[in-house]
Amino acid sequence: MIKFPEYITNSRVKTWIQEMADLCKPDTVYFCDGTQAEYDHICQTLVESGTFIRLNEDKRPNSFLCRSDPADVARVEDCTFISSIKESDAGPTNNWIAPDEIKKTLTGLYDGCMCGRTMYVLPFSMGPLGSEIAHIGIELTDSGYVAVNMRIMTRMGKAVWDVLGTDGEFVPCLHSVGAPLEPGQEDVPWPCNADNKYIVHFPEESMIWSYGSGYGGNALLGKKCFALRIASTMAHREGWLAEHMLILGLESPEGEKTYLGAAFPSACGKTNLAMLIPPKKFSGWKVTTIGDDIAWLKPGKDGKLYAINPENGFFGVAPGTSYKTNPNAMDGLKENCIFTNVALTEDGDVWWEDMTDEEPERLIDWQGNEWTPGCGLTAAHPNARFTAPASQCPSIDPDWEDPAGVPIKAFIFGGRRNTTVPLVYQAFNWTFGVYLAATMGSETTAAAAGAVGKIRRDPFAMLPFCGYHIGDYFNHWLDFASKITEQPAIFGVNWFRRDADGNFLWPGFGENMRVLHWIAGRVNGCASAVESPLGWMPGPDDIVLQNLDGFKAADYIALQMIDTELWKQELMLHDELFEKIGDKLPSEVKNIRALLEAGLKRSPGKWQMVK
Ligand code: OXD
Ligand code: MN
Repeated sequence: MIKFPEYITNSRVKTWIQEMADLCKPDTVYFCDGTQAEYDHICQTLVESGTFIRLNEDKRPNSFLCRSDPADVARVEDCTFISSIKESDAGPTNNWIAPDEIKKTLTGLYDGCMCGRTMYVLPFSMGPLGSEIAHIGIELTDSGYVAVNMRIMTRMGKAVWDVLGTDGEFVPCLHSVGAPLEPGQEDVPWPCNADNKYIVHFPEESMIWSYGSGYGGNALLGKKCFALRIASTMAHREGWLAEHMLILGLESPEGEKTYLGAAFPSACGKTNLAMLIPPKKFSGWKVTTIGDDIAWLKPGKDGKLYAINPENGFFGVAPGTSYKTNPNAMDGLKENCIFTNVALTEDGDVWWEDMTDEEPERLIDWQGNEWTPGCGLTAAHPNARFTAPASQCPSIDPDWEDPAGVPIKAFIFGGRRNTTVPLVYQAFNWTFGVYLAATMGSETTAAAAGAVGKIRRDPFAMLPFCGYHIGDYFNHWLDFASKITEQPAIFGVNWFRRDADGNFLWPGFGENMRVLHWIAGRVNGCASAVESPLGWMPGPDDIVLQNLDGFKAADYIALQMIDTELWKQELMLHDELFEKIGDKLPSEVKNIRALLEAGLKRSPGKWQMVK
């Protein structure tokens, strides 16, 4: 029998931990208290076992490098399941598996899976402790790597038990790397299971079972599993929103603050946008960061919509992050970080592709091999990550931990589109906005599944993260309009449009401030727009375009041009998604499609602004 600390008074949680320990059979059960001393101790244990390399204390104090097994480097969408009682509740965009069947399979795999290991009990809050928007989870894991990452990524520690009390609600999250140790068997630096990986969500029970992987979203269960897949089902039942969105604040020189939520598919630069530094032209303006990946939004009593970032840290993609692309992220990585699958420099620091203009002469790559420039391999894995405390980010918003959340005035939805989609447009109303978000898509890159250059439809950037039927999710968004009296305005953006020669038409990065500035102007009633077949757009004089090196008025016209032939094809591509959704497709979506088609017919060939 486990000897529970006396401060754990919730009998449901005790029963569950005892049952899971009986099943997984760890050598010991350890209750994490979330203190710095405990974190330091677990990190030191990981150094001694060869999982962590302590980085140079002068260059990167209290930071560690970890190399994963080369077969365990990313989220595994094929092995991710929604195990609702009815298959129809998982919908066409999820892998479904029957709860009885998967529970049988996983109970077999979990039986004795923690032999020779410690089961860490991690009590965590997604969102500021005690906030009405926050929720509690308890993760049981046999990975010390997960324990220390969860301390950065969530509010993990003893205080959570007090909030939970004797009868509070929690999401049970069971995780095992699936690599039991025989007595005397030596461990490997990154234990995982080569044959079986399962990331399973039980929406009716609000429960998560994960097996076989130690990496990122497969194992840090507070993130994608809880804060998106399970939380989206809770939000559907309870009348709120759990979204794959960054949250940023835009502060004018007069100190007026406008908060925006922005959804982009993975690998579209969400962290960069959340930490944007405005260009010189916008002196006096400031962008502040609430979160870079996930937003939980609940209606306030005043009719506004309030958002929190349920996370406590950033689990960002390292390659491509540099002082050029994201100085705030770089400054937030100076200490107290965990780096996974990046390269090690000769002086004990980290490096990844595009971190500096010049490549170091020698490195140890993410697999522990000698690396020199031009050797034909990347030094860091393309999905290498940093885990960094959010509080260290210089642009973190002073109110980022406000339990009440921040009021959201606008939503932005964007994908990576070479053609077709303009730089920015505002949906005519909430329903048009839901259509815009429901049909967003991104060109696939080598990292995403599918052929390069094909469009992966990614509704609301939630394709891999919506825990229920995507048609019900669209309906939930449509119904949600009546729950708030001050509905955020909805915008579409595309930073990635190219000309016929393949050159980007828009400089992106910090210059995206120009688009944010117009958006803030729109929602605060001080920016004009012209009407297009897709929605409202900034005319050339409505958006600040001065001081943009080499950018001409004609470029802006091209950026905002709507090619009606391409849009007719685009609408047909939307139909492919709608057909998959079938009966659950809201009638409003069909109506908006018809309105868009009719509007486009009025501009044969192309629609463009005249200047
Ligand atoms: C992420 C993702 O890691 O969206 O945030 O894949
Ligand atoms: Mn994400």
